Amino acid sequence: MVRSELKKQNKNHVNVNVNVNVLIKVVVSCLLLGLAIHFLYSDSSHSHNEDLLRAATNQTQTQTQTATNNTVDEQEEEKCDLFVGDWVADPSAPLYTNESCHLIEDHQNCMKNGRPDSDFLYWRWTPRACGLPRFSPSKFLHIMRDKSWAFIGDSISRNHIQSLLCILSQVEAAEEVYHDEEFKSKIWKFPSYNFTLSVIWTPFLIKADIFEDSNGVSSSEIQLHLDTLDQKWTQQYQNFDYVVIAGGKWFLKTAIYHENRTVTGCHYCPGKNLTELGFDHAYRKALRQVFHFLTNSNHNATVFFRTTTPDHFENGEWFSGGYCNGTVPFKGDQVRLSDVDSILRGVELEEFEKAAAELGGRVKLLDTTRMSLLRGDGHPGPYRQLQPFSKDKNAKIQNDCLHWCLPGPIDSWNDILLQMLLNGGS
Ligand SMILES: *[C@@H]1O[C@H](CO)[C@@H](O)[C@H](O)[C@H]1NC(C)=O
Ligand SMILES: *[C@@H]1O[C@H](CO)[C@@H](O)[C@H](O)[C@H]1NC(C)=O
Ligand SMILES: *[C@@H]1O[C@H](CO)[C@@H](O)[C@H](O)[C@H]1NC(C)=O
Ligand SMILES: *[C@@H]1O[C@H](CO)[C@@H](O)[C@H](O)[C@H]1NC(C)=O
Ligand SMILES: *[C@@H]1O[C@H](CO)[C@@H](O)[C@H](O)[C@H]1NC(C)=O
Ligand SMILES: *[C@@H]1O[C@H](CO)[C@@H](O)[C@H](O)[C@H]1NC(C)=O
Ligand SMILES: *[C@@H]1O[C@H](CO)[C@@H](O)[C@H](O)[C@H]1NC(C)=O
Ligand SMILES: *[C@@H]1O[C@H](CO)[C@@H](O)[C@H](O)[C@H]1NC(C)=O
Repeated sequence: MVRSELKKQNKNHVNVNVNVNVLIKVVVSCLLLGLAIHFLYSDSSHSHNEDLLRAATNQTQTQTQTATNNTVDEQEEEKCDLFVGDWVADPSAPLYTNESCHLIEDHQNCMKNGRPDSDFLYWRWTPRACGLPRFSPSKFLHIMRDKSWAFIGDSISRNHIQSLLCILSQVEAAEEVYHDEEFKSKIWKFPSYNFTLSVIWTPFLIKADIFEDSNGVSSSEIQLHLDTLDQKWTQQYQNFDYVVIAGGKWFLKTAIYHENRTVTGCHYCPGKNLTELGFDHAYRKALRQVFHFLTNSNHNATVFFRTTTPDHFENGEWFSGGYCNGTVPFKGDQVRLSDVDSILRGVELEEFEKAAAELGGRVKLLDTTRMSLLRGDGHPGPYRQLQPFSKDKNAKIQNDCLHWCLPGPIDSWNDILLQMLLNGGS
């Protein structure tokens, strides 16, 4: 019912003959103004980049269908699009639990926090055109002997590395060897494999002056330097054999844009007499620089560029009563990508494709957007805090419909990563 209401709204939206893009930017900006970004904004109105997405999926599906049957297995695997598939019920237990992994962040520790249903744990991502084996921590660690791997990005990257850490720690406990002052960037070692795993907090990937306290309350606009990468990751890049890099949602925030040492505009800064350039402008510039850096680096890491992760707030946003209380995955036609996520992913695909020739296979697309879109059931919702309804079962609790429960659907991102490693031979 909720969905059909949204669809009705969407139709009305299409009829309004204004520049949808500008409208979205303004709406998004207004809502984000001054808000903490523990959670992020989602827009449920019409999506104009959807066709681009569908076309991309269509193409890969067609390619897979036309693959002949007499090719050898390996060639088939190369052709198989790991990101076109379905969530299939799987009775086997997750690779770890809230009991067996001690590295789950409280806000994502849904079972500990009292989430009552657990069916969401029993689904496996299954590509249509090939098998996807369950992640094998010992196989992964074996490949990673003497290697170093980094996750570079925002809190979703942290969510992802915690999933990987939890899976690997079933074979060997990770030893934390470094954390920064704010515990946002960290390094772990797996001693008997001499494997190093890092997470680097750099939510914009480019240079940003952020004025937020530890609760995410902002005292001033973010100053974003669109022509300067964040040295926090570029200076360490040569230490890594493998990198998963991602960005996106932080670009939705209010920010002043700088280039070449001058202010060029902003995203949502009314009263400042600056040009509204839109978050897509900044995100595009940032990604161009990221790809330029990777192309021109002397260092040859295997890089996975992850696409945006969709959120699933329904009937509101995180700050206005939005929730996500599904207990099973969506079917393909029950859910669509929000405008904001469509724009982010559109920029990602365009810039990746533009850079692809030069990148020469150095950077692989970890296109988890679609598979994640189907998992509205995989978020903490109110169970981002311990026993939210213990005192009052009708308590009004802020929901998290962006990050992923651990264990949860994000674990499947690692199944794909390992398979890409095995397919890519690097
Ligand atoms: C997808 O492919 C089918 C044919 O295989 C075609 O009819 C359809 O128009 C395509 N859709 C898009 C969005 O490209
Ligand atoms: C190719 O493989 C598919 C699925 O395995 C099968 O349905 C189809 O009949 C095969 N086609 C030929 C020509 O062997
Ligand atoms: C794990 O979750 C269960 C509920 O699913 C809870 O009873 C238990 O206390 C939790 N354990 C830890 C260590 O979080
Ligand atoms: C551990 O791996 C690093 C490369 O990441 C290598 O330089 C070092 O020699 C290795 N240490 C041991 C004890 O093998
Ligand atoms: C940056 O500014 C300098 C002078 O301040 C100018 O020479 C240069 O062309 C500018 N570069 C770009 C990319 O605008
Ligand atoms: C706004 O900026 C423009 C160009 O920088 C300038 O000409 C104009 O005087 C400014 N307006 C105000 C009210 O400051
Ligand atoms: C980087 O790796 C790719 C693929 O493994 C290889 O083709 C290329 O020559 C390497 N480049 C450098 C600079 O080592
Ligand atoms: C989700 O919450 C809404 C509003 O409280 C309720 O109407 C709906 O039945 C709930 N759905 C599930 C699956 O619990």
